[in-house]
Amino acid sequence: TTYFIDGQFTSKDSLKLSIDDRGYYFGDGVYEVVKVYDGELFTAEEHFARLSQSASKIKMAIPYSEQQLIDIAKELVKVNEVKTGHIYLQVTRGASPRVHQFPELAVTPVVTAYAIHNPRPLSNIEGGISVKSVEDVRWLRCDIKSLNLLANVLAKQEAYESGCAEAIFVRDGFVMEGSSSNAFGVKNGVLITHPASNLILNGITRQVVLKLCNEMGIPVEERAFTPEEMYAMDEFFITSTTAEITPVVLIDEKPVGTGKPGEITRKLQEAFARQIP
Ligand code: PDD
Repeated sequence: TTYFIDGQFTSKDSLKLSIDDRGYYFGDGVYEVVKVYDGELFTAEEHFARLSQSASKIKMAIPYSEQQLIDIAKELVKVNEVKTGHIYLQVTRGASPRVHQFPELAVTPVVTAYAIHNPRPLSNIEGGISVKSVEDVRWLRCDIKSLNLLANVLAKQEAYESGCAEAIFVRDGFVMEGSSSNAFGVKNGVLITHPASNLILNGITRQVVLKLCNEMGIPVEERAFTPEEMYAMDEFFITSTTAEITPVVLIDEKPVGTGKPGEITRKLQEAFARQIP
């Protein structure tokens, strides 16, 4: 497997990363996951634009342009012969002896990336998943796709230990998003999802779904909703780059609607499938 490590296309064995990398010390960096279908990057411009925004929100300058990052991603897909899979790319603030404040002597951010084969999660997409609601103990800048994922990791683990595939964050009595996904309900034909704000990550898949709703004439309400409203939804689903549109059939052990993936969810899945190569 060929990786992109700090300016070079190289193997994992020749990996040279500093113990002083601020990614290790502080999770001081940002990342993206981009899906690959049939050897092509999906919504790459949107992902790398968001990476730039994440970096600028943490006052970090990425040493490559968005186009150069896309070219690096494409090269990784090509040399690793990935057909269906994804790119993982992260940028840390760089290596410097451990102090919290930014390094006094400017360091160059460190970019690492790989392409990996990963099939579409078709059985979840078909049959749906169970989810568990958990308290959202994250910070107030969830709009930044940062490497600091401890609260997300703990939430996902808690969900897994309860036999669920995803955790749904609830903050101050309102449903936010999943631990690594966005969350949507459908009630009486209306799609409801938390508005893009500092409290959620504005998913690229979320934005694709909202665009599809617009094209398909499905009414959308971007507003916060409570766990009680969530339990009473006719349909529920999560979205992410890797999960695509995954129906939720059980929330906190309560069946959603009929207990089977809903009609609007299915229509959106079909429309989504037509977007991908
Ligand atoms: N996670 N919300 C959170 C907290 C996420 O981590 C993600 C993505 C999303 C969905 O965003 P998108 O549709 O752009 O993938 C929402 C990625 C896939 C991950 O961490 O692996």
